[in-house]
Amino acid sequence: MDARIKAQVRQLQKLLNDHNYYYHVLDDPKISDAEYDRLMQELIHLETTYPDLVTPDSPTRRIGGAPLPAFEHAEHTIPMLSLDNAFSHQDILDFHARIQKNTGQKELWYTAEPKLDGVAIELRYENGVLVQAVTRGDGFVGEVVTDNVRTIRSVPLGLRTDTRACPRLLEVRGEVFISRAGFDTLNRKRKSSGDPVFANPRNAAAGSLRQLDSAITASRPLDLFVYGRGQVEGLSFDSQSELLDALTDLGFPVNPLVKKKISIEQTLEFYRELIEIRPDLPYEIDGMVIKVDPVTLQQALGEKIKSPRWAIAYKFAAVEKITRITDILVQVGRTGTLTPVAVLEPVQVGGVTVSRATLHNMDEIEKKDIRIKDTALITRAGDVIPKVVKILTAERTGEEQIFHMPSHCPVCHSLVQRLEGEAAVKCINAACPAQRKERIRHFASKKGFDIEGLGKKMVAQLVDEELLTSFADLFTLEKEQLILLDRMAEKSAHNLVTSIDKARQIPLHRFVFALGIDHAGEHATRLLARNFLTLDDLMAASREDLEAIHGMGTITADAIAGFFTTPENRELIKKIQDNGVIISNPLAESNPEKSHAFTGKTLVLTGTLSSMTRSDAQKRLLALGAKVTGSVSSKTDYVVAGKDAGSKLTRAKDLNIPVLDENRFMNLLES
Ligand code: IVH
Repeated sequence: MDARIKAQVRQLQKLLNDHNYYYHVLDDPKISDAEYDRLMQELIHLETTYPDLVTPDSPTRRIGGAPLPAFEHAEHTIPMLSLDNAFSHQDILDFHARIQKNTGQKELWYTAEPKLDGVAIELRYENGVLVQAVTRGDGFVGEVVTDNVRTIRSVPLGLRTDTRACPRLLEVRGEVFISRAGFDTLNRKRKSSGDPVFANPRNAAAGSLRQLDSAITASRPLDLFVYGRGQVEGLSFDSQSELLDALTDLGFPVNPLVKKKISIEQTLEFYRELIEIRPDLPYEIDGMVIKVDPVTLQQALGEKIKSPRWAIAYKFAAVEKITRITDILVQVGRTGTLTPVAVLEPVQVGGVTVSRATLHNMDEIEKKDIRIKDTALITRAGDVIPKVVKILTAERTGEEQIFHMPSHCPVCHSLVQRLEGEAAVKCINAACPAQRKERIRHFASKKGFDIEGLGKKMVAQLVDEELLTSFADLFTLEKEQLILLDRMAEKSAHNLVTSIDKARQIPLHRFVFALGIDHAGEHATRLLARNFLTLDDLMAASREDLEAIHGMGTITADAIAGFFTTPENRELIKKIQDNGVIISNPLAESNPEKSHAFTGKTLVLTGTLSSMTRSDAQKRLLALGAKVTGSVSSKTDYVVAGKDAGSKLTRAKDLNIPVLDENRFMNLLES
């Protein structure tokens, strides 16, 4: 390899790491965000072209910024739900009253656990041996991080079976975290070696778990507490408290503070106790989780789409900080809504640097009387999104300026509108470049077409150069057109065209999500896919058909029906399909005609395939409704054996499981 290129890559890596440090550690940026992004793009481009030059400490490997997906994905057999939040004692008493009403039980027992702030993980044990570790991901599909998790000392590689029979299958769920001391040591080391520090223990845990090199994960002080389970065979327990006892016996770390089988009043006492001891705990917690103890009652209560009815998180009050609003900017969103955003003097809130806060709309600004140059109390809502709590009016100097919503769109300069009775001001020019960019970004986003390499900057260029006027144009883009763009080299143009090509096969729910219909988010679009076999069926549905779907709101149903009856939208969909997009529907319930040989089947991929990467094969299989797991068991339907397949192939033969060679696999896949 050219030594000059190597030197250039090393220099860029160092430069970007330095600027990270100035920005995140010293709070003293030396270059503009745009310049930083330009350098980063250059490095990503070089590292993609010369992967041998990637080092584990390259700024491109950083959490959030990692451009190269490296982990295989696996679907959770049972979705990993999240929890509803409570913020007051009253919320907890309401929760208790709801449970009493829904179960008809007056006396109820709960288990209460500290809520750790780390990374949720599922560990799969087959016949007592750890075979797979998957992050929560979006709750349905996570990243396979088995090798990294094996380096965590408190994770049992095998179950202890001195007091319990070994369960055939056990999926254990818990939280991977870094202690405060571990976090401090890690950051001290990073600081002295010139690496940027992590903002908080949660980021450090997430970043450490997502290392491509397990040796790096091994050097990080990761730890684990378990609190739940996924699929289980061969282990019986009647309650959350019994489950925790069983997990303790089997060798898992269960948080010793957990209170088992207590009354609702005792959970509230425990909450007060946790607030007391919180500052002295060796790890960070952000609240308490209360779970209905008996499994029979959990089952009777059931789940909502995102969270169980039998558990709730009682969060601690958020940290608040004081800072100044230096300016108020206006952003134009996908649907044309103008959103005012406060630019803040950067401030640390709960371990994260905050420099922007959305102000939502004019009503919010007027209600809180927010002015430019005001001093404000800031918090991170739900510990994530920065928000202005209130203005400290006593701090006013007279220099403050009242903010007015612009009368024209700051991007396309057309007149904006405020609809009767609505808080939002909108740019109603459908051709507004800002809207077009946001719509295309949404279309290509992870939950939509998932087109790698089509980030904000790229979309902006494509729209500005008028290469993209509608979604459909994406699928006719050619390498030769892309090369003409700024900073676009042969290789990256080729990569983008390839990733667009890969995205042509898409499940129905993601296709509909990508269209960006008002109110049709991830859950509504999954509901649709479960209720209609094909896109044509869905497009033929009436408003009433849609409203009749259990769980579908009327506003959403109206928006969807409205979208599909609009001739321009039907035309657009036809054009997308004419440009080679193929829509499948793995979520359709019992669909024997349309289903594929692999639908509902469990496959294990092993060895190297010559016609596609393993992760692409996996994506294709998931889209067909198949499950891909990491190890061969009696539950496996097929083992796909590429070149140099090893022990998994042997095990498949031992268990008499059908083995497909690459040819046979490709034939079936394409059938
Ligand atoms: S139970 C169905 N228990 O909180 C129950 N979650 O907002 C779902 N978490 O993703 C989770 N400590 O990462 C549960 N003792 C605990 C927990 C806990 C932390 C996290 C977990 C989950 C998130 C839910």
